[in-house]
Amino acid sequence: MKSNIIQFSNLLHDNQFYETILSWFKQNQRNLYWRENRKIYLTYLTEVMLQQTTVSTVQNKLPTILKEFPDFKSFKSKKIDDFLKCWSGLGYYNRAINFYKSVSIINKKFKGILPEDKNELLNLPGIGEYTANAIVAIGYNKRAFPIDVNVKRLISRLIKESLTDQQVSEILNKITLKKRNFRKFAESMMDYSSSICKKNYPQCQECIFQSYCKSAFKKFIPLKKKKILSKNINFYLIETKNKICFVKNPKFQFYKNFIHLPSSLDKELLSKYKKDKKILKFSFKYSITNYRFKINVFEILSKEFDNNPDIIWIKKSEISKIPIPTLFKKILN
Ligand code: ADE
Repeated sequence: MKSNIIQFSNLLHDNQFYETILSWFKQNQRNLYWRENRKIYLTYLTEVMLQQTTVSTVQNKLPTILKEFPDFKSFKSKKIDDFLKCWSGLGYYNRAINFYKSVSIINKKFKGILPEDKNELLNLPGIGEYTANAIVAIGYNKRAFPIDVNVKRLISRLIKESLTDQQVSEILNKITLKKRNFRKFAESMMDYSSSICKKNYPQCQECIFQSYCKSAFKKFIPLKKKKILSKNINFYLIETKNKICFVKNPKFQFYKNFIHLPSSLDKELLSKYKKDKKILKFSFKYSITNYRFKINVFEILSKEFDNNPDIIWIKKSEISKIPIPTLFKKILN
């Protein structure tokens, strides 16, 4: 493979891959808020947000987050729950929890300045290879190659080999030995691979690499979609006059860092209500990752009880002050 890597790098280099994609980028780059407002904080925040969220959702959500959390410093006077509230609706809350923890370390240990050194970045919570490389290349315009699935697909298709991230990185390193524009190079590959060299429908007729791409116009079999899992689940609004019952150690497998409304999985708690009247209020469909839930919402009128350490009663007037995932907001509305 080693000699192949040299061969592939030469192919891209001889065809001026770097220059071609940068000139495409000049004409076609997306107008994104974080590209017009370069701040290392914004690069880091958006790279974390973009990991499991689309560009348009991130664009829409950013103003809400930046209003309360405009920079690293602003975290000093805020709690993790404040950040989670802003994050609400984006899902994958571990990203937000790690980001908050990481910023606390940046404020304490690095005086509010995000390190440029990749190894120091990798020691921060939630920062892996991809994010560290994205911060170095996009944030600091230094030699690094953030390889996401799109970039990996682009390079793998060009040379018709299934490559590891490490191999893609070696190729990109070789073809940029005398180059300096690491930010533009990274962003141009992200934009090109997601808009032209698309996963299921590559636009080969528009592609600027078609003359030497080894996969151009080849019959293409769309990748298998992840298996969809359907599940019915009941959630219960157990209410007193002015309070609602939440649970602390819920069995529902998502949103582990939040308190939940009780569900049909919390069997022990619900055994208390075996004989009580449950009224079906409404049902709706809700997707989380590859799960398609049918959610049934039941109402149970109750007296407050506190003999269960996993139960927490929240005043209805206080609910807007705690971070609650969108699924539960929908149920509460
Ligand atoms: N996807 C991940 N990071 C991105 C970025 N900086 N610009 C556009 N799309 C991205």
